[in-house]
Amino acid sequence: MNVLVTGGTGYIGSHTCVALLQAGHTVVILDNLFNSKREAVGRIEALGGKPVRFVQGDMRDSALLGEIFAAQTIDAVIHFAGLKAVGESCAEPLEYYGTNIGGTVTLLEAMRAGGCKTIVFSSSATVYGGQNPSPFREDMPIGQATCPYGSTKIYIEQILRDLSAAEPDWHISLLRYFNPAGAHASGLLGEDPNDIPNNLMPLISEAALGKRSELVIFGSDYDTPDGTCIRDYIHVLDLADGHIKALARAAATQGCETFNLGTGKGLSVLELVHAFEAATGVKIPCRIGPRRPGDIARCYADTTKAEQTLHFVCTRSAEDMCADQWRWLTAGKE
Ligand code: NAD
Ligand code: UD1
Repeated sequence: MNVLVTGGTGYIGSHTCVALLQAGHTVVILDNLFNSKREAVGRIEALGGKPVRFVQGDMRDSALLGEIFAAQTIDAVIHFAGLKAVGESCAEPLEYYGTNIGGTVTLLEAMRAGGCKTIVFSSSATVYGGQNPSPFREDMPIGQATCPYGSTKIYIEQILRDLSAAEPDWHISLLRYFNPAGAHASGLLGEDPNDIPNNLMPLISEAALGKRSELVIFGSDYDTPDGTCIRDYIHVLDLADGHIKALARAAATQGCETFNLGTGKGLSVLELVHAFEAATGVKIPCRIGPRRPGDIARCYADTTKAEQTLHFVCTRSAEDMCADQWRWLTAGKE
């Protein structure tokens, strides 16, 4: 298939582009480089063994989208582009609604005009909110968003379900990611954001590199075995493989389907820190701090539907994730 990947130079998008090329697809990337770098294109091509078409531009630019769809046949879209910082979304809600929701609607209109009706969308486990118990199943009710970022995922999912109900010839896959982490095993591709990291793995990495003096653990009094929060960390390469399977399923299936992409296994903050230390031999200085508002004790996936329908299972361990992250951060940089 010829696949348009919005946000394709970003963290998850770039790993997925490599997996697409390796699976025999051709790739057109649309990214405005707001949170990624041009260098990712060369790295994708080197690892994927084939060239990609890169268009630097904004998904809210409907004329540009029209040109992309007019210039070639696009068989499917994988839609990663968007803003994703939880705290920033509370301070700048209009930016988040405009980019994530406005951008998605503009993209969908361009797809329809261009005759492409297959889309895989990056949603998040955040849509389950704090009310549902883990493991989260796709048929649970959507929760209450705790920030505008989370709201954009809930609204975009609803827009896509509404579209599917009104126009049943669309092929739509909503992928709810749990906690993506790690990097390409080659050490050539990884998370390289322009903004300040907020997620645990990049913050552990900064503490390991001495870029920050310590990792502050947000609470050790949760109702979990070691008192720290439990999350479902999924290797970014497993996540990329999940997209290849979801794309094949979407292309073959009319309607709108939802899948969790996680390992199904929860890991506490302390367990991830220990896995990182074991994989790298580097000690992470840690301090217990207060809870972070909005955090829930447990968040992990029920993977049954992805296993049964997509035949998707994660093959990489937490140690692989940490070793690959460390290789990306240190390879060629000593
Ligand atoms: P990322 O920031 O690395 O990638 C997003 C890409 O979109 C960036 O390259 C950015 O430059 C681009 N972009 C932003 N606004 C754009 C616009 N208006 N037009 C064109 N390009 C634009 O983020 P990521 O971690 O790779 O996440 C990809 C998707 O997955 C996002 O939708 C995110 O919300 C979702 N997601 C991520 C996580 C996570 O922990 N990383 C978890 C759940 C869901
Ligand atoms: C966060 C977002 C969520 C988003 C997800 C993936 C919040 C409240 N939620 O969730 O909307 O979908 O990222 O992008 O921001 N931790 C520490 N110290 C740190 C950083 C994190 O102890 O310095 C802990 C957190 O309390 C949490 C775990 O590490 O228990 C993972 O944190 P994070 O990577 O931010 O992911 P989520 O909490 O799952």
